[in-house]
Amino acid sequence: MLGIRDLSREEIILVLDTADSFIEVSTREIKKVPTLRGKTIVNLFYEASTRTRTSFEIAGKRLSADTINISSTTSSVVKGETLIDTARNLEAMNPDVIIIRHSAAGAPHLLAGLVKQSVINAGDGAHEHPTQALLDMMTIRAKKGRIENLRIAIVGDIAHSRVARSNIYGLKTMGAQVAVAGPATMLPRDMEHMGVEVHSSLEKALAGADVVMMLRIQIERQHQNIFPSLREYARHFCLNRQNIALAKQDVLVMHPGPINRGVEIAPEIADGPFSVILNQVTNGVAVRMALLYLLTGGKG
Ligand code: CP
Repeated sequence: MLGIRDLSREEIILVLDTADSFIEVSTREIKKVPTLRGKTIVNLFYEASTRTRTSFEIAGKRLSADTINISSTTSSVVKGETLIDTARNLEAMNPDVIIIRHSAAGAPHLLAGLVKQSVINAGDGAHEHPTQALLDMMTIRAKKGRIENLRIAIVGDIAHSRVARSNIYGLKTMGAQVAVAGPATMLPRDMEHMGVEVHSSLEKALAGADVVMMLRIQIERQHQNIFPSLREYARHFCLNRQNIALAKQDVLVMHPGPINRGVEIAPEIADGPFSVILNQVTNGVAVRMALLYLLTGGKG
């Protein structure tokens, strides 16, 4: 599971249907099924994470797998061990699945070429974050009953967002109309070739939207002349009580997290009646259970 770009419509539906069937497990008093008993899952994270790493760990545990977390800051990576050597050593311990987050685009592909285990991309640089897009599509489908022909606005730093890229691939494959918006410095030049509308105004992207996906502003990029100041960015691109009225009356508001409150999204919108941000987190566990199940030989 290296990227959404490689998935067909049928494969996406298989993952979403399987995830739907796992939702119920997390509502039980005893939140555990024996499906992956005896399997070993390694979470190898070279970047910080709250939602993705925790939900992969919970997903593995709810399926009765043994889950091991490795963080670059507490492993031999700090002693200079390369990704290739780390991969070979993990492979020698014979786990069943390796999940990797890395700042370098393509790191999961490199890993998949080196080891015999299934590899899951948990986010690689500005390239892809396929499990985020799958949980986003699961959330949209659960709330709207379909993805096809919905108008979906993705707003923010599109150029540096692996979440945006994976969602664009997935949503287009599923037949949605996608509009992106952000400052010119945050919009890649080749965007139209991906079959999306491109706007430099938030209001144009919001007009008639069924779903609005706000992206985290990567504050760490503030000194790269991508945007003049957080206040200036918020003035033009913060989703708030006024501009949300341009979207459909039953719009869904999404955000992958972590949120910069008052920068890309006003607190009353993040916590308001249109928000499905915490539903996304809940669905993240089910999507990751589905992927672990399917990649270890489960049938949908
Ligand atoms: N959405 C997401 O990837 O969040 P984390 O960085 O906390 O995993």
